[in-house]
This record gives sequence, C-alpha cells and structure tokens, in this order.
Amino acid sequence: MDIAVYGLGYVGLTTSLYFAEMGHCVVAVDVDESKLRQLQSGKVPFVEHGIDDLLEKNLPTKRISFSSSLSAAAKSEIHFICLGTPSNVDGLPQTEKIMALVDDLVRHFQDPKYLVIKSTVPVGFCDQLDKHVKDSLKKSKKNFLVDVISNPEFLREGWATQDTFHPHRVIIGTDSPDSEDVMKELYHSLQCPTLVMSRRSSEMSKYAANALLATKISVMNELSQLADKNGADIEMIRQAVGLDPRIGEQFLNSGVGFGGSCLPKDLRALIAQGDQQGLKLEIMQSVTLVNTSQKKLLLDKMKMALGDLRGTQIAIWGVAFKADVDDIREASSLFFISELIKLGANLSIFDSLALEQLKLYLREHKLNSAQVKLCSSQTQALDKADALLVMTESLEFRQANLALVKSLLKGSKIFDARNVFHPLAVRQAGLSYYGIGRSGDGL
Ligand code: UGA
Repeated sequence: MDIAVYGLGYVGLTTSLYFAEMGHCVVAVDVDESKLRQLQSGKVPFVEHGIDDLLEKNLPTKRISFSSSLSAAAKSEIHFICLGTPSNVDGLPQTEKIMALVDDLVRHFQDPKYLVIKSTVPVGFCDQLDKHVKDSLKKSKKNFLVDVISNPEFLREGWATQDTFHPHRVIIGTDSPDSEDVMKELYHSLQCPTLVMSRRSSEMSKYAANALLATKISVMNELSQLADKNGADIEMIRQAVGLDPRIGEQFLNSGVGFGGSCLPKDLRALIAQGDQQGLKLEIMQSVTLVNTSQKKLLLDKMKMALGDLRGTQIAIWGVAFKADVDDIREASSLFFISELIKLGANLSIFDSLALEQLKLYLREHKLNSAQVKLCSSQTQALDKADALLVMTESLEFRQANLALVKSLLKGSKIFDARNVFHPLAVRQAGLSYYGIGRSGDGL
C-alpha cells in the first residue's frame, strides 16, 4: 500500500520504517528540511535503539522516501499523523498543527483516503476532525470519503523500534468495517491482540495507559516517603509487591519522579479535560503533586546533608529524562540543575547522550554558565566534587567502580535519585548514601 507518515519524531520515523520493512511504499514527511537531509543520508537525528540499522536497510530499497512536499504525499492512500501535541498553558494538548496539516491535505486529496491519527489527542478530537473533514470535502464539492481512524501509539522512547515490532496490543478506533479491514491488514504480521473500538474509547485508552503507569510510579514514590520515615527499604518493598501478578513488577521504581514528553503532559491533558467538563480528577492531581514533591524531598536531603551549598561542587551523572535517551524534556535533572545553581553550587555534569540538549537548554534559560561545567566522562565530573548526584538509571552508573568514585571525590556523599546503588556497597566503599525511601541515611 502507499502510505504517508507526517511528523518524523521517534513515533513517526519508527512507524515509517516499520511499514517500509513490511513491504509498503512510504513517504515520510516533515517540515524540518535539515532533518530530512540527515535522514536521506542515512543519519537518524536522535537516539533510538536499532533505528539506524532499520534506516540503513530500508533506504536502498526505495520503499521509504523523505519529503516536505504535501502535494506528493497526498497521493498516498493511507495517511498517518504523528505530530507531537505538547501542552497548551491550560494543559490541553495542542492540536492546531494537526488541524492545519489535515486542512492542507484535504485541499490536495482527489480520491478516497484513510486518515489515521497516531498523535495523542484529547478524547473526541477524531470525531471533531471527521466532521471538519467531511464539511471541507462538501464545501469543495469533493464527492469521496476520507475516513478518520484513531490508532494510538504505546511505544517507549528509546525502545521505539522494539515496541513497534513487538507491541502488547494494537488499538483501532473506528466504526467503519472498511477502515477496520484496512488497518487489520496493515498490522496483520504483528503477534499481539488487536482491539477495535470507537474512536473515543481508542483515544482514551492511550491516556488511561499513561495515567496508570504514572500512578504506579507516584504510589511507590509516596510509599518511599513513608519508608524513609520508618526505616524500611522501598527497594525490598518493590520486589515484594512486584511478585504479585495482580500488581506486576514493572513501573514500581521509586525515584525523583517521571519526566519526558508523555506522562507529565498526558496527566495535564486528563486533568484539563476533566476540568472543562466539571470533573475533578483527584487521583490524577495527586499523582502530579507527588511527582513534584519527590524532587523537592531529595533536594531537601541534599541541603540537610551538605549544609550551605554556596561554593560547593556537585557532580551530576545523567541529565536525560530516563536512561539511554538524549531527550531532556521535563527531565527531573533540570529541577536540580536550576535549584542547585540558585543555591550557589558549582556543577560538573556528565551524560553520555544528552549534553548537547542540555547546552541548548542552559542557553535558552539563561542559566549561569560559570557555575556549570559539562564533562566528557563520569570520572571528569567527579574530580574534586563534594558530592555525587545520580539522576538516571543508566547501566554505566549502576556499574560504577565505587572505590574509584571514593578516590576521585573530595567529599563522600552520594545522592542516588534513582536508587541505582546498593546502600551497603556504597557504605562499604567509605561513602555516605542518600537514596529514595531507603533506610539508614538518617534524613
Ligand atoms: C511513556 C509510556 O511508557 C509509553 O508506553 C507511551 O507510549 C509513551 O509514554 C507515550 O505516551 O508516547 P516514555 O515517555 O518513553 O514512555 O517513558 P517511560 O519509559 O514511560 O518513562 C517515563 C518516566 O518515568 C521516566 O522519567 C522514568 O525515569 C520514570 N519511571 C519509569 C520511574 O520513575 N519509575 C519507573 O518504575 C518507571
């Protein structure tokens, strides 16, 4: 089939490559010409496991091409919209760009099309879009059908390729048997359940999934606060409850909260949608509150353990919102970086993937660069630092040689924002350990 995919972030690019790999003819569209040039030359402009190989494999087959031209892409039969939908100030996702793109496409369409919405959109958006498209077609006397289908994406950044080829489920939101057949045909080689439902249920399934994931994290984070006060270890509690299949072992890791471009934004969207309709989504609000307080608690621990932070040097390992990605959107580290700068600390920061993004962020937010040194290795960041703050759960941090850490640090305190170390191992190396919900730090 001829497929066009719009918006080449990690969702759009992976979707394009998946369909190319399945033998379809894909035109992948973006407005960013420099990104298109990079992709055409076989370079992926962001970090995503396995995607470079997939691009290298599919480029020579000519089953995928990159373009900024809507008129050429509009000839395709199926159109996947994968534009980002960041929050507006009111918390609702921005859908204007999708609307504008669809308006442009409809102007170019000359025959029936399937318009598939992968972007995360508020519940009811696809119904509104469907009506809008039908009205536009009628006005321009185009006598054919453009069917709007909801097909939310559940892949994780960093693991997009794996999640696209091995998803847990495919959700198809449509009440048209013809659209259902086309979508099932597109995904027929996936070994997972396919659920067909209304567009509204489909849109809401996406939010429900992220709401539950965020809730699991915040519940564990709230419990970690109680564990801290009572001399219990949240890591042991996590293992104990995770063995219950009704709870499940994933997404129970305590830390300094969830970040990224999805969970925080989708919670805001749910709360805002509820507000609009007179519904107070109290659990969602609490999940968000715990997520914020979790960062402040670790900062308070740092202040209590280190005293006046003016002139201290803090090594920070990890900046991205999670391990193994270069994305710093809503990363918890940004809170620590700006607060520690305000408190007068000097920072030596290492992240193997995200330092370029951090550079842009620091410039954009006018954060005092004299207090920040970006380091090219873990050891360089540690050099003569008073303390180490570990912000992501990267394997390279988990496997750090604690004796070496001890020898390079001037001070002896480790603040473990993701519980990557075992407290005993840290103490045995002659260092003091301050984690999340783990007894013994006395704070
Ligand atoms: C999330 C969902 O996991 C995907 O299923 C969804 O498709 C995606 O959002 C989306 O809506 O597009 P992602 O944003 O890539 O994926 O990140 P996650 O792996 O979910 O991690 C989010 C945050 O939660 C990270 O900051 C991570 O460190 C934190 N986290 C995760 C915890 O604090 N504890 C955990 O146990 C797990």
